[in-house]
Parts: sequence; C-alpha cells; structure tokens
Amino acid sequence: MNIKSTFTILFLFFITGHAFAIDPVYEGANGIREKVFATNCLFCHSSNLVGSARNGAPSSVNWDTYEATLPNATRAIERAVNLMTMPPASSGIPLLDEEQRTAMLAWQNAGFPRATLSVATLSDNSLLTLPVVNIGNYKFQATLRQIPLDTSPTGIGFVLERAAPTTASSDNAATFFPETGGLTIPSVELVQNGISQGRVSAEMTLVTDSNPVMFTLISSTVIP
Ligand code: HEC
Repeated sequence: MNIKSTFTILFLFFITGHAFAIDPVYEGANGIREKVFATNCLFCHSSNLVGSARNGAPSSVNWDTYEATLPNATRAIERAVNLMTMPPASSGIPLLDEEQRTAMLAWQNAGFPRATLSVATLSDNSLLTLPVVNIGNYKFQATLRQIPLDTSPTGIGFVLERAAPTTASSDNAATFFPETGGLTIPSVELVQNGISQGRVSAEMTLVTDSNPVMFTLISSTVIP
C-alpha cells in the first residue's frame, strides 16, 4: 500500500471517526473543564465566587473541580446541551457550540470520566477505549463500539466511533498497519461495573471500504 492510501485511511479515521478537539474527560488542557466549563460557566459557577459575584448561580452548583462537578454533571448536560438554557441568555456568555455539545454528550456516554486512562479498556457498555493507536508516525486515541458481526470469524466486530490525535504515550499502545488493515492491541482491560475482570490481547482487521470504519475481531487471547 502506497503513501497515498495510508493518508486516505488516516483521513477516514478522522472523518468517519468524528474527530473532535475536545477530549471527553474532565481534566487536561483539551478536557471538558478547560474547553467547556472554564470558557462558558465558571464566570458564575465557581467555588471561589460568593454573593453577587455568582450572578445568581446556586452556591452548591460549581464546575471548577471534578468533585464539585460530578454530582451535578447530568444537570449540566440537561441545561447546557439538551435545553440550551445555560448560560442564561441575558448574560452575553455564549451557549455551547456544536463541538462542545458533542464532547459533553461523549463525556456523559463514557460515564463522566475524570481523566483519560492510560490503558485500553473494554467496558460492559461495549465501548473499547484505546488511549494510543500508532499509525506510522501518528498517534490517535480511539473509541470503538463492540457489535455482533456475521462476517467475523469470532462473530464480533467493532465500529470506530471516535478518533482524535493524541500526544499521550502508553506502554501498551495499539498499532494499526495501513498496509494490511491489521490492528494489534497488546492489552485490553475487561471492565465490569468499574472492576477489572482480567486482560486480553486482540487482533483485528479493517473491513475494506467500510463506512463507518469497522473491524472484525480475528482473535483474542487471555493474558495470564
Ligand atoms: C452568567 C452566569 C451564569 C453562567 C455563565 C452559567 N450559569 Fe448556570 N446558572 C446561573 C443562574 C443564575 C442559575 C439559577 C437560575 C436557573 O436555574 O436558571 C443557574 C443554574 C444552573 C443550573 C441549575 C442547577 C439545578 O439545580 O438544576 C445548572 C445545571 C447550570 N446553571 C449549569 C450551567 C452550565 C453547565 C454552564 C456553562 C455551560 C452555566 N450554567 C453557565 C448562572 C450562570
């Protein structure tokens, strides 16, 4: 496979993977705190603001720490994403844009995580999170969803839901080989109710011309 098709695949990864610049985690320079709460909410909803400085924002509703945010996170989605009644129209502070709303929903779908895990996980909600996928000299973080797939030797497939460039590093990074379509994942933590049930390694293959991008699970092996 030549360099041109390599970039075609990278491009596919971006487009069909709904790449976005905001990480669906609270912490980090690209996280929800910095890219959503800090820009659109903390002017009123911050623990260090008191009295009139809060502009009427309830004193118990703050988004400046993860601990404060978590109990009300669903309310934040409700008001700022679903109803779009926060920030108040009168404040002059803009409503969340589409990228921010998408990231908020992805954050909710992932269970409002605090930070990106550095290990690959497959959780009981069928989401496979790969913090680092090497593709040539590029590094991506990717989220795939497990699906039943008739054409797969294991009956299992994965649909790429999201991919975005990352600068993170991982001892157990996955590798995608554009020449063969192979995706090698050296270690995946199987998580149920937040508790690890063990680890497996996995081999997948890209389904040619799939859109959205899809992989067949060729094999998985329990890591003792
Ligand atoms: C200009 C000040 C201001 C900004 C900025 C602001 N809010 Fe508010 N917020 C308020 C006020 C005032 C209230 C109380 C009145 C109300 O609920 O409409 C409130 C209430 C809320 C509530 C309701 C809490 C409950 O008990 O249901 C939520 C949730 C909320 N805000 C989320 C947000 C989010 C998320 C952002 C940023 C995207 C944001 N707000 C930005 C002023 C603000």
